[in-house]
Amino acid sequence: MPTIRKTKVEFEGRIEEREVIVEEEHVAPWGADAALRLVGKPTKRVDGVARVTGQAIYTQDVQLPGMLVGRFLRSPYPHAYIKQIDSRRAEVMPGVWGVWHRGRPPAFTHLDGREVFAEELAYEGAEVAFVVAENERVLADALAAIDVTYEPLPFVIDLATAEAGSAPEAVLGVGGNLITPEPEVYHRGNVDTGLATADIVVDLTFTTPVAAHCCLETHGSVAVWEGDDLTVYHSTQGVFGARSSIAEALDLPLDKVRVICNYMGGGFGSKWGAETVTFLAAQAARVTGRPVKAMLDRQEEHLVAGYRPLSRQRVRLGAKRDGALTLIEHEAWVVTGAFGGGGSIIGGPAKDLYTCPNVRTAVWAYRANTDNARAFRAPGYVEGTFALEGAMDALAERLQLDPLAFRLQNYAERSPERGVPYTTKKLREAYQLGAAEAGWEERESRRTTDGPWRRGFGMASQLWGGGGGPPANAAVKLLPDGTAEVMAGVQDIGTGTKTIVAQVAAEELGLPLDAVRAVIGDTLTTPFGPGSGGSVTLASITPAVREAANDALRQLLALAAIMLGLPDAPATDFALQDANIVYLKDTAKRLPYRAVAAKMGDYMIVGKGARGPNPDDAAINTFGAHFAEVDVNVETGQVRVNRIVAAHDIGRVINPLTADSQVYGGVLLGLGFALSEQRVLDGPTGLQLTANLEDYRVPVIGDTPQIDVIFVDEADPAANSVGSKGLGEPPIIPTPAAIANAVADAIGARITDLPITPEKVLRVLYAGNGKEELS
Ligand code: MOS
Repeated sequence: MPTIRKTKVEFEGRIEEREVIVEEEHVAPWGADAALRLVGKPTKRVDGVARVTGQAIYTQDVQLPGMLVGRFLRSPYPHAYIKQIDSRRAEVMPGVWGVWHRGRPPAFTHLDGREVFAEELAYEGAEVAFVVAENERVLADALAAIDVTYEPLPFVIDLATAEAGSAPEAVLGVGGNLITPEPEVYHRGNVDTGLATADIVVDLTFTTPVAAHCCLETHGSVAVWEGDDLTVYHSTQGVFGARSSIAEALDLPLDKVRVICNYMGGGFGSKWGAETVTFLAAQAARVTGRPVKAMLDRQEEHLVAGYRPLSRQRVRLGAKRDGALTLIEHEAWVVTGAFGGGGSIIGGPAKDLYTCPNVRTAVWAYRANTDNARAFRAPGYVEGTFALEGAMDALAERLQLDPLAFRLQNYAERSPERGVPYTTKKLREAYQLGAAEAGWEERESRRTTDGPWRRGFGMASQLWGGGGGPPANAAVKLLPDGTAEVMAGVQDIGTGTKTIVAQVAAEELGLPLDAVRAVIGDTLTTPFGPGSGGSVTLASITPAVREAANDALRQLLALAAIMLGLPDAPATDFALQDANIVYLKDTAKRLPYRAVAAKMGDYMIVGKGARGPNPDDAAINTFGAHFAEVDVNVETGQVRVNRIVAAHDIGRVINPLTADSQVYGGVLLGLGFALSEQRVLDGPTGLQLTANLEDYRVPVIGDTPQIDVIFVDEADPAANSVGSKGLGEPPIIPTPAAIANAVADAIGARITDLPITPEKVLRVLYAGNGKEELS
């Protein structure tokens, strides 16, 4: 029976106490010595063949009979008024089915309640009009035939200007560009004490650029009505969240909205809820009676689908001569867009990675004339770790300590921020395994001195959540031929969620993997599951899947008991052994699993399971360390990353194959952030110059280093019944810091401004050598 209780759930650096409905869990946690057949084994994706042969239907692939296409006309200015809009030429074009804008009601609102067709346009790409048409060609012609008169307004696009009191307001009348009048501050101990007791202090300023998510499948939806029922195919990392926002925007009851996301081409934090374009597509489909597809194009993707906000960070660290930290102070200034939120968790690593008595973090968030930032794979922690771990490296150098030894000296045995123990923390093991694999101790012997290339070695630590929690639910149906279906309301953001759901269900049911079909990504056919974010999916859903499978199995065992003439024997007297149901008190009494399933026939056994609460008074975290080896050319400034050793502690690894993939992807995103990626806005016009995948430079195959993935792989049974934690975000977190530290090691000068371009390498080298400054 369900009960209501409180549990602590962590999401992207924030701890929340939730009142949740939970049920008793019947399964015992899989401990370190659990004998498991499928879990923990490298397992190919159950939908791998469908994906690589093009049979998998992504939202972008959906084609429905009579389908129309829709797109926004968008602001060509970073800041402007609409003086006049005339859509009459477009409206009469053959093949145009509808035009919406300020002068053509109904009014629409964004997810945050703002008017979609506002008079003031506060970013390049702001919505001006929406058109649906028979096909893309008519659509393009119709958008071009809408006559708009704009009055350009002064704009602000950079932090220095936003900070200056004289800067124009990004949004007129909001009262300046500082989003919250007071910074978001955290402290423990006292900064002055930390400074006074330090023998050595470093004080460094770091900056990081705006980074784009670059989802290969752009954002968008296909909306289709059948009577009063709306179905939305939607590229999303949260089908249930999307259902709620669509129902709210269109004023529909939840049962009238079905959201489907069977496959998606990346989200990285940018695909929460529904898009504004989704609401318009749904409305247009209702009015026209035809399905409507509205996907962003690549330029729109860069303009209006979010980004990692730029940051400036000042880090002051103090330490005793023996290496004990006395002070961590982290101040950050971020720019989150015209209507972006003030919250940022960029100080998270500074608060919680190291033991230190005196800690202060503060964050100021500014507006600018770009669309809003969105969460981006370990939001705040990638930038925050780059700064903190860069400063830690600089301090280790001043103290003449090995960077790894310095970190170990300040190792946190309990959560410094929460003051509670961890369920498990295996960062020490990750350091040791990673250092051994990377040859950290022998690195001096591998330096190169020939020619212009200088070799450097750097490392950085990773802290993140990933413990997950309730609510998450699953259902399991047993079929008469001995196969099963497992339904779980999660979606596969690309990590392999469908595969691990099938693995865990098959493990618990005692079935082979190919006898279990996993159904995910559909709000109509699955019970609620969490969104794919905050690295919570696996640790939230797999315990629910275990419980549902166990519930189904217990029902099947009861049936077997009757068939064996033991109707009063409790389920615990039976076990599944080698495809047989065996009476443990007399193992001669046994029945093949399939025989019991066949007896069940079309009577359906349905098992259900819910995620239990998290343990009280313990922190559930993931940890890791990356070790980078780089070569830097001191004549051209080029940086070549030779190797990243990525060692992670996520508890039990359910699928080493998809886990490795997750780390490769994280490392490559981190490498791009370190060396090449940055959004560039044009100063005079305020327009984006990098709104495509050619000028916005993500790593390509030639940039890809050797990536060696290591997992500590020790179960964390105190965290949940599966003993696993999330890996979505951890692998991007330490990569930029490790690479930057390796570059500093190679050239003897620290570049604190990402990306580390050849130009910046040469500048710092020339400055360091006292040569003439490059102009
Ligand atoms: Mo969050 S960046 O959506 O995992």
